[in-house]
Amino acid sequence: MLKPEAISSMVLERRRHMHRTKNENHPAVLAPRIFADSAVIEDIRPLVEGGIINGVTTNPTLLKTAGAQSWDQAKSMMRDILKLMRPFPVSLELTETEESAMLIQAKELARLGDNSVIKVTIGGYRGVQNKKNADPFTGLKVIKALYDSGVRTNATLIFNATQAFWAANAGATYVSPFLGRLADYMYKNDQPERAPGNSLYWIEDHKNSKKDQSVFNSEYVANGGSRKDAGVRLIHEIVTIFANYDIRTEVLAASIRNAVQLTECLLAGADILTVPADILMSVADHPLTDIGMASFLNDSKAFSEK
Ligand code: G3P
Repeated sequence: MLKPEAISSMVLERRRHMHRTKNENHPAVLAPRIFADSAVIEDIRPLVEGGIINGVTTNPTLLKTAGAQSWDQAKSMMRDILKLMRPFPVSLELTETEESAMLIQAKELARLGDNSVIKVTIGGYRGVQNKKNADPFTGLKVIKALYDSGVRTNATLIFNATQAFWAANAGATYVSPFLGRLADYMYKNDQPERAPGNSLYWIEDHKNSKKDQSVFNSEYVANGGSRKDAGVRLIHEIVTIFANYDIRTEVLAASIRNAVQLTECLLAGADILTVPADILMSVADHPLTDIGMASFLNDSKAFSEK
C-alpha cells in the first residue's frame, strides 16, 4: 500500500509564509517553484516564455557545456540569461576560493543583473589544491557577508542536513542539496548491511534505458516505492528541520536525474526543483498518455466521417 512520507502541518505552515510567484487565487499558489538547471539560453527561452519555469540555476560546468571558453564569455552568457529571466532569479556560481576574492567576484556577478543570486560552495575549501590550511568556514563567512550587504545567495554542493542548517544560519536564501550525485555515490558504494536502503534506483531501472524511467515512475508510485533514494531522504530531512525551526531558506532540490526523483521531491516537501532542460521537456509525457491520445484521436475520426 502506498504510504508516502506525510507532510507535517509544520511543513505546510512554513510554506504558507514562503515565496509565491502565482496569483493568490491560483489553485497551485503554494506549489514549489520550478527552475531550469541549464546555461543554454536556447533551451531556457521556450521554458520561460511558456511559463514552465520561473528561475534558472547555472554552474561553471553548465556554462562550459554551453560553450563558454573564457570568464568574459561566461559573464556574457550569464548576463544574457539574467536579462531573459528578469525578474526571476538566476544562480551564478563563484569560481574564486579566497574569502576576499569571492566577495569581489560576488559583487561583480551581482552587478550583471538585479535578479542574480550568488552561488557559494558550502565547504570543500581545504580540499582545493595546495590549500589544506584554508579556513573551513570560508563559504559560510561569504554567505554571511553577502547576507549583510543584501545580496541573495544559494549555498551549493550540500550533501547533508547539517550543511544546509549552517548555510541557512549564515543567511543563505537557498540551499541546494545535490540529490543525483548523492544517489550516484550511494549506488556505487551500496552496502546494505551498513546503510539499509541507501541506493537510488530499483534494480530494474538499471536493466532498462533511461528513457523508460517514466514507466517505472508509475510502477514505483503504484507499489509504494521502497524509499531507497538517499538524495530524496536528504530533502525530507532538511525540510523537516527547516519546518521545525521555521527557517525560511528555500530548499532547492538540485542534480535531478529522472522524473521519479521529481515526484519524490514533491512528496518530501522541496520548495524548488531545478531540473535539466531535457527532463523538463519530458514531464508532460508518459507512454500510456501517448497510447491513450492515439486511440482517442483515432476514435474521434468517427465524428468527422459521419
Ligand atoms: O544544480 C546542480 C546541478 O547542475 C548538478 O547536477 O547533474 O552535475 O549532478 P549534476
